[in-house]
Amino acid sequence: MIAPSLLSADFARLADEANAVRGADWLHVDVMDGHFVPNLTLGLPVVEALLASTEIPVDCHLMIEDPDRWAVGYAEAGSYNVTVHVEAARDPVRIAKDLRAAGAKAGLSVKPKTPIEPYLELLSHYDTLLVMSVEPGFGGQAFMPEVLDKVRVARKHGLRVLVEIDGGINMDTIEQAAEAGVDCFVAGSAVYGADDPAAAVERLRARATRES
Ligand code: DX5
Ligand code: ZN
Repeated sequence: MIAPSLLSADFARLADEANAVRGADWLHVDVMDGHFVPNLTLGLPVVEALLASTEIPVDCHLMIEDPDRWAVGYAEAGSYNVTVHVEAARDPVRIAKDLRAAGAKAGLSVKPKTPIEPYLELLSHYDTLLVMSVEPGFGGQAFMPEVLDKVRVARKHGLRVLVEIDGGINMDTIEQAAEAGVDCFVAGSAVYGADDPAAAVERLRARATRES
């Protein structure tokens, strides 16, 4: 699955940018609060407007300090998947239950330096695991291949989560992530930096499925 990240899109034309990638599986939306990460993007009102203007399932990645307070609102608004960071969540089991009760899939994300082993049990409450392959905050950074070990650990433990990877995914890096067992590839600059974003999605998908 390919999830274009709107972080690299034109924020003044979000509906058009969403519709420019109609073949995408999910639309990845990076919510940053300027505290959990040193960047500020958008919040629930903009996500609500986006949900009303696209048919593509919306995948919200919350890089915020207080997901216990804010995450459920993104699920209630109609997001398909809502991901919180394990480094920020105070009661991640409660968050997962609330997200699911509101009708969304529940996602848990780990920053590049956060190990996954302490959270293997916790992940039984979650539907998706988002492995960050750059330090969260900005698009266009270089892929960190060492995080693929976490994907392999998740696979080895037979976790029934869908594994997403986020950061630095492009035509040069997507294959190694696919080989490690990633299911869903987030790509910002590789999609919206291309002349034809829809074609870029298809190229990435073809490259990811070539040898896996
Ligand atoms: C970074 C965000 C990513 C970002 C990826 O913190 O979580 O979703 O958009 O951008 P690229 O694909 O350009 O690395
Ligand atoms: Zn993201």
